[in-house]
Amino acid sequence: MEEKKIMLSGIKPSGDLTLGSYLGPLRHWPKMIEEYDCYYFMADLHAITVRQDPAALRRRTLEQLAQYIACGLDPEKCTLFIQSHVHQHAELGWVLNCYAMFGELSRMTQFKDKSAKNADNINGGLFTYPSLMAADILLYQPDFVPVGEDQKQHVELARNIVQRFNGVYGDVFKVPEPYIPKVGARIMSLTNPAAKMSKSENGDTGRVTLMDDPNVIMKQFKRAVTDSDTEKCVRYDPENKPGVANLMTIYATVTGRSFAEIEREFDGQGYGRFKPAVGEAVVELLRPIQEETRRILADKAYLEGVYRAGAEKASYVAERTLRKVYKKIGFIAR
Ligand code: TYM
Repeated sequence: MEEKKIMLSGIKPSGDLTLGSYLGPLRHWPKMIEEYDCYYFMADLHAITVRQDPAALRRRTLEQLAQYIACGLDPEKCTLFIQSHVHQHAELGWVLNCYAMFGELSRMTQFKDKSAKNADNINGGLFTYPSLMAADILLYQPDFVPVGEDQKQHVELARNIVQRFNGVYGDVFKVPEPYIPKVGARIMSLTNPAAKMSKSENGDTGRVTLMDDPNVIMKQFKRAVTDSDTEKCVRYDPENKPGVANLMTIYATVTGRSFAEIEREFDGQGYGRFKPAVGEAVVELLRPIQEETRRILADKAYLEGVYRAGAEKASYVAERTLRKVYKKIGFIAR
């Protein structure tokens, strides 16, 4: 029998999951669990590169796990785990730090952005974050890494590290491919269509979180920035009408309609009907996810069972890779 291909991805519990986290990567993950051997995790080690309130970090990590399951990631069919429970991530992260170059780490857009936004806390972890992310990936030898557009640069750096490492020691790691959806890979802030919708930045104004109340969601969409031209028509033109293009992208991904169909649907109607229609579609999308998340979150023993079993499965695979790496680089076997 042919072996299943491997798929892996993670999200940092650095803020509540947003519509961007869902429409970019998360909504694609459940479709993959039948066909691939999938590993999905809560990247808590990554979250602390920016200061976190400990209680909030714990709450969000568990809520994120419940949301993964509520979105369709059946723990019987894929491996769900908390990154800090699998110590091999930190260990391989250190090793890969020694194969990641200062110059390439300095060029990472996310490092430059985050350093500008956290000028009082430009810590070493923020700088070496991509080596840890490379370790997350390479421990499981995945074929694909499904992410949003903003993580592409980090996956490419992981590929460079693989080439450098394999160049010295032979074929230790498989070269991972980013898997980026065509529509929805970059959902923008509703108040500033030049910035991505972020879990942890741009205040509360421009985002919709997966657990927001329907009234809040409707309010966010009704006041979403469209554009200042006089045309006031629903037309897909990301360059000149980025706010409208973002709303159209959200509507397209949620309803499965094409941009041409959306243009026809709102032809001659201005934004007055369009904005609430996008809001309603999002409310309906999130309603079952919210109900299911609340139901799962109430059962702490079940969640604990899931993350314990997940860590055990993940550690087994991760340890195999780590041992091979340690041997190749010349460490004495434990
Ligand atoms: P993070 O937590 O910032 O984002 C998680 C995932 O969501 C995507 N994403 C978006 N997609 C579309 N529109 C948006 N507005 C939007 N915002 C976020 C991101 O591209 C990402 O796929 N370093 C990673 C987490 C990570 C990881 C890994 C991912 C750690 N190790 C290994 C893959 C493989 C991060 O900070 O993503």
